[in-house]
Amino acid sequence: MEFSSPAASAVFAEYDARHQRERALMRDLPAGEFGDRRDEFLLPIGARAGGFLRALIRGKEPKRILELGTSYGYSTLFLADAAQSYGGQVISVDLDAAKQDYAAGMLARAGFADTVEFRCGDAIKLIAADPGPLDFVLLDIWKNQYLPCFEAVYPKLAEEGIIASDNMIQPASARDAVRRYRAAITAKEDLQTMLLPVGSGIELSIRWSAGNPKL
Ligand SMILES: C[S@@+](CC[C@H](N)C(=O)[O-])C[C@H]1O[C@@H](n2cnc3c(N)ncnc32)[C@H](O)[C@@H]1O
Repeated sequence: MEFSSPAASAVFAEYDARHQRERALMRDLPAGEFGDRRDEFLLPIGARAGGFLRALIRGKEPKRILELGTSYGYSTLFLADAAQSYGGQVISVDLDAAKQDYAAGMLARAGFADTVEFRCGDAIKLIAADPGPLDFVLLDIWKNQYLPCFEAVYPKLAEEGIIASDNMIQPASARDAVRRYRAAITAKEDLQTMLLPVGSGIELSIRWSAGNPKL
């Protein structure tokens, strides 16, 4: 997959090779071991979802992009590639400092050090500390955290701001949390929302016409 510079394309190729290796490794893990080892893996949104979000961001040009769930920076690369093209900023949040250090190194090598700010800590606390407004949010943390994160993000979402949430279809183990999450977003009068069968399933929710009834 091509990025806006050879340096960014080379970094993506590294992520992709690592992801291919890890997929094989995860397939062969003894049953029940994945949970203890999940922080070893990229667990990325994948190239299709990444490419889709990159195109969406390029088209809409949101100023402030918040990523919840940096992991090792795979998805951050797509967000930064789009944001840098028009001067947008990405804030990327994760609990795990070691993963974020790795992500920061990769994003710097790709030429995006000035486009991405990494914040380490619990998503809900970091959302509360952010002054807003948020123009685009990628929600991709552990699935039982989607609902409290949504409730924290929603008041700070700009008019025409977008929340893109991953893993709405896969994995099946996330479905109970996904059901609760989707019930909460569809109940908001000023959110237009739809489930897109891209990658593992993306819910795209757009704050539109605040105060007016849903169309
Ligand atoms: C599925 S991975 C993110 C994958 C990444 N978006 C990508 O596509 O490369 C989920 C990440 O969310 C982080 N996380 C989970 N709960 C969190 C929380 N409450 N606050 C901040 N980060 C959290 C985990 O440490 C993990 O790295």
